Amino acid sequence: MATWLVFWFVLPLLATAFSWHSLWYELGLFGAHPTIQYESFYLESPEVDVLKWDPRCDDGYVFLSPRGHFYPEPGPLIYDNAGSLVWTENRFGMAMDLKVQRYKGQDYLTFWAGDDDGTRGLGSYYMLDSSYEIIHVVSAANGRNGDLHEFKITENGTALITVYEICQADLMSVGGPKDGWVYDGLFQEIDIETGELLFEWRALDHYRVEETYFDIEEKGHSAEPGDAFDYFHINSVDKNADGNYLISSRYMHTITCISPTGTILWVLGGKRNMFTDISADGSATGFTWQHNARWISDGVLTVFDNGAHEHLRTSDHTRGYMIELDFESWTATTLHVYDSPGHFSSHSQGSVQVLPGSDNVFIGWGKASAYTEFSLDGEVLCDTHWGPRALFWFGWVKSYRAYKYSWVGRPRSPPDIAVNDELRSVHVSWNGATDVVGWLVQRADDSNALDSEFETVDYVPKEGFETTVGLGDIDGHLRLVAIDSSGEELGYSNVFTLSHTGSNILSLPASMEDSLQHMLIAACAVGAILAGAWQGRKRVLSWLHY
Ligand SMILES: *[C@@H]1O[C@H](CO)[C@@H](O)[C@H](O)[C@H]1NC(C)=O
Repeated sequence: MATWLVFWFVLPLLATAFSWHSLWYELGLFGAHPTIQYESFYLESPEVDVLKWDPRCDDGYVFLSPRGHFYPEPGPLIYDNAGSLVWTENRFGMAMDLKVQRYKGQDYLTFWAGDDDGTRGLGSYYMLDSSYEIIHVVSAANGRNGDLHEFKITENGTALITVYEICQADLMSVGGPKDGWVYDGLFQEIDIETGELLFEWRALDHYRVEETYFDIEEKGHSAEPGDAFDYFHINSVDKNADGNYLISSRYMHTITCISPTGTILWVLGGKRNMFTDISADGSATGFTWQHNARWISDGVLTVFDNGAHEHLRTSDHTRGYMIELDFESWTATTLHVYDSPGHFSSHSQGSVQVLPGSDNVFIGWGKASAYTEFSLDGEVLCDTHWGPRALFWFGWVKSYRAYKYSWVGRPRSPPDIAVNDELRSVHVSWNGATDVVGWLVQRADDSNALDSEFETVDYVPKEGFETTVGLGDIDGHLRLVAIDSSGEELGYSNVFTLSHTGSNILSLPASMEDSLQHMLIAACAVGAILAGAWQGRKRVLSWLHY
């Protein structure tokens, strides 16, 4: 136990900048899902623990789709480079694969939203403009349900999506029934403008069920459609300028290149691997349970190698690879490895992204609530956890993928405010606004004052998602004005009124009330932890020895 603590927490922490807050956070003493609450905004956001930061990190925003047992209101989420909330939303329900994509020369915020049955998603794909309005909703063609694993927009204005279809299949070769059921893995290419289906491909036409590494015993015997065998598990689709598709199959351990007519051009990894692996550690073909295969250039691709599927493990930790293929000699080699910092294992989900500006490599660790930015050759530059390390394995807070992009958000709704009359202050935030550098305090004598009648009486620089503006003895009809770095006025809060009152007498100072409350919460928390530890000691012990 003690060595485990030293190895997993104390050493990594000492190697960076030690802080007790960070240690408690990582051990889960602040809970499975530490959050930050706001006065002016109704949703909470995960509190981050920044373990490493470097000025070489790309100056973009981080895009997550948090969910999990301890994430009560899932939805898309954007952080800034420091892990401060920029935008989050719960009106879509569970979202996956939030990213920025270009369509007809314009940037969109895109994601999947819908329901999932534990294996596949049943939903649609959303495209939001910079004001967070829905501009397009893309659906799967042929009356199918859009699956959560991919929504990739190509340079030709088409969308690549995955579909899981329950089909009848002979499963005798894997110890199942002759009239068995499988989840077949399909992908579609759809014209976004017209919704027309341009191409569809299905795994069952090209892959034999016995090429899977997934054990049919894991899912009953698949004699019922409701108990279908997920033998393929397609989890990414990409396309290059030659029109060739690249797909990842988690349960085949393969990355497959498919021609525009649907024939298999080559297979990397798995039981039908066509490449000689000339990497030192066999990683160029030896990845397992992987995610997110992406073209980088003609013969170069990236992939997220989970190396584990629940209790099945081929590697003690998860990592990303950049792999180079040579089509003359049919060899594969690993150019760069991106190891999980502190070598944790993430046994599902995850993504690798080569950042366009810097060539840094950004990894979302999937089931582990963490994201890391590496230099191209694998040095950890920035490392952030948004849930405790001690609980990574459970996936209680997780994001299917994580990305970094530049983004301009200009919400149409006004900034949100919460006025505290007693403390003569106002909290202000503006969900989704990216360009705000500070807030002007403006006042007018008349509640129906025209814009021109407001005069600026104070300026406060923005701090994180929510800024607290002290109003001192400013009274009258007030509003806050968001301004950008050039001083342009971006938006106005609603007008609120603060009258000039005398000092409050004989009420408990708020700070004292706060500290009493904190002491009570702390006492309860210690009690709960002790009770929980006593109850859970067996489980924890068996997990530690896992
Ligand atoms: C885009 O369209 C061109 C012309 O039809 C085609 O050659 C190219 O392969 C397409 N690219 C993608 C990524 O679909």
